[in-house]
Amino acid sequence: MSTAPTGLPIDETSRARLATDGLRMAVVDATDPAAYEAWLRSESRGFHGDQPTAEVLQQRHAGLSADRRLVGVFDESSAQPDLPVATTICWPADLTVPGHRAVPAWAVSGVSVSQTHRRRGIARALMEAELRTALALDLPVAMLTVSESTLYGRYGYATAALARDVTVLTRRVRWTGPQPAGRVHFVSAEQLRDDGHAVVERVRLGRPGEISYDGHLWTRQLGLSVDDDNAKKLRLIRYDDASGTPQGFAVYHLVGDDTDFAEHELKLHTLVAATTDAYAGLWRFLLDMDLVTKVSAHLRPVDEPLRWMIDDFRAVRVTEVDHLWVRILDVPAALGARTYGSPGRLVIAVDDPLGHADGTWAVDVADDGGATVSATDDPADATMSVNALGSLYLGGVPARTLVATGALSGDAERLDRMFRSPVEPFLSIWF
Ligand SMILES: CC(C)(COP(=O)(O)OP(=O)(O)OC[C@H]1O[C@@H](n2cnc3c(N)ncnc32)[C@H](O)[C@@H]1OP(=O)(O)O)[C@@H](O)C(=O)NCCC(=O)NCCS
Repeated sequence: MSTAPTGLPIDETSRARLATDGLRMAVVDATDPAAYEAWLRSESRGFHGDQPTAEVLQQRHAGLSADRRLVGVFDESSAQPDLPVATTICWPADLTVPGHRAVPAWAVSGVSVSQTHRRRGIARALMEAELRTALALDLPVAMLTVSESTLYGRYGYATAALARDVTVLTRRVRWTGPQPAGRVHFVSAEQLRDDGHAVVERVRLGRPGEISYDGHLWTRQLGLSVDDDNAKKLRLIRYDDASGTPQGFAVYHLVGDDTDFAEHELKLHTLVAATTDAYAGLWRFLLDMDLVTKVSAHLRPVDEPLRWMIDDFRAVRVTEVDHLWVRILDVPAALGARTYGSPGRLVIAVDDPLGHADGTWAVDVADDGGATVSATDDPADATMSVNALGSLYLGGVPARTLVATGALSGDAERLDRMFRSPVEPFLSIWF
């Protein structure tokens, strides 16, 4: 990526399209506190959030990395012409792909259109612009997490990693997993801010779907944003291995039951473990807590080993949702960034209505799993939509599932041998 994200001019195609509707699309100068405030107020309103207080504005502005590209759409005829009527915030982040590698990707976030301007094509103009912007920045993949599953398929995105909400009825369970060798410490927010991020970074390349992040996203992940309603209730724990090295952490808060003090619910915000020992140590600590009958956790991996570490599998209730959506833009760069499960040559034909990934591509996989990918005129072994390619990309969605939907045709078994990841993809944050 040669150009800084904020240095790139606004996408001309979408700017011109919105201008015909009397709207001005522009990159927002986020270094200007007033411009940032107007952008954030609009974005917060778009997501039905609170009016940001001075303290929130200050913390968010201070935590805004220089690589954040903020875009606003302005309507000079509205009663508040300085407040954008639509927003996006995007930045480059490393997305882990199979093979302990990462691909540079365009993280698309903060997509909002004011209630007063909805359903007249503003989101489409913004989303199509961000795809062209990503390509202009040499980023072969775009990605996002979604408020609704119905929004982004039309732009070529597809679910690439699922997540689970988990509830454990703790009174029913006895720990049958390994005995942890290290110990749990309560730590302060400052300690966890310092020690925790190194753990996140150690975990990141081992899990397709995880992305690099810090700044506001790290503060929010710890529940320490000033606008987090639960900030004053948080408990922060760190797991150190037998040699005293931090290997994991968790953040949670407790909610009491007004009628029975022995019936607290533990709400787990985050649990990150770099080793199986730390994983066992943290979960065991949480399940063993006095005065607690239920542990609930949002955004957990689909291959969570927890149910195999307790004696009552059915004490864990699970709900599965789509979480990380991926959009392939540059096929040779994106597919060449990951490794594959079996060597050989596979030719895929990709149908992309927006044109970016359209074409027939030969994926030549070497014995070490690395691949070179190039355009070809050879006949295709498999044909798929760009969405299906996005779902295959991190190795979590089986080709046979995509064949069943009609989004892919070809030898699903062979595709699965090549594309499936031995580690289920997962993203542990929202962005
Ligand atoms: C979702 C949102 C961004 C859509 O903005 P918009 O400007 O009204 O969308 P557009 O008019 O550009 O519509 C583009 C397409 O999306 C469709 N669409 C828009 N909102 C939709 C919704 N909520 N559910 C399903 N489809 C939707 C439109 O029908 C249109 O389809 P088509 O072009 O394929 O015919 C806007 O309603 C919003 O801000 N919602 C609240 C915040 C939010 O959820 N943002 C998304 C964060 S991930």
